[in-house]
Amino acid sequence: MRQKIVAGNWKMNLGYNEGLSIFSEVINMVNDEVTGAQTAIVCCPYTYLHSLAQLVKGHSQISVGAQNCHQEEAGAFTGEISAKMIRSVGAQYVILGHSERRQYFGEKNELLAKKTDVVLGNSLKPIFCIGETMEERENDRFFELIKTQLSEGLFHLTDTQFAQVVVAYEPVWAIGTGKTASAAQAQEIHAFIRQEIAAKYGQETADDTTILYGGSCNTKNAKELFSQADIDGGLIGGASLKSRDFVDIIKAF
Ligand code: PGA
Repeated sequence: MRQKIVAGNWKMNLGYNEGLSIFSEVINMVNDEVTGAQTAIVCCPYTYLHSLAQLVKGHSQISVGAQNCHQEEAGAFTGEISAKMIRSVGAQYVILGHSERRQYFGEKNELLAKKTDVVLGNSLKPIFCIGETMEERENDRFFELIKTQLSEGLFHLTDTQFAQVVVAYEPVWAIGTGKTASAAQAQEIHAFIRQEIAAKYGQETADDTTILYGGSCNTKNAKELFSQADIDGGLIGGASLKSRDFVDIIKAF
């Protein structure tokens, strides 16, 4: 089923105590103010996952996720974290293929396809990020690029596996820049993504897929973005670090 989701991506920010107190505020505000069936997800650093997952027990509207994981099940990979470890501390989601992972850590579609497998194999849901750079947009290469990111990263999955995936469209030029894609620009790509999914998995699966927008989404632009036919919510970086802003974005539906 297509869901309405607002996922926060804390990236490498917030100390432990600060993170816990912001998360507690989010839980309280969501309980008091958010009606309806939207899901809030907070993707925090690995070392906070267990504590956040404990706090969220019994709150069905809020889940916890990681920001990455290793592509192997287990083994001699010093310093790495596996999907199974993430699952074992109570998280339910993992962001994969964020543009910062692609850009700074050289993660390619082929590797991300493996990570997707290991995430799904451990009963976690991937929030799979795709999106073009400014150069790719200016060269009109972005539809082709999005198509390749989808086909190489996700389209090896079976129908049942694909049903667990959340897709996040994040134009790289909009991330952390304060430059948001216009609602029309975002809708155009979201519709294209859904069309590609329909061509691969059928219209019903495409209609059921949750596709989030990310890139300088904030309290001011969320409402217009979320009102687009193919935008089912947001992946929020900067604005997720403030409980009031994050919850106001959840309320923008
Ligand atoms: P931003 O980040 O909201 O700070 O632009 C979005 C993201 O990287 O997921």
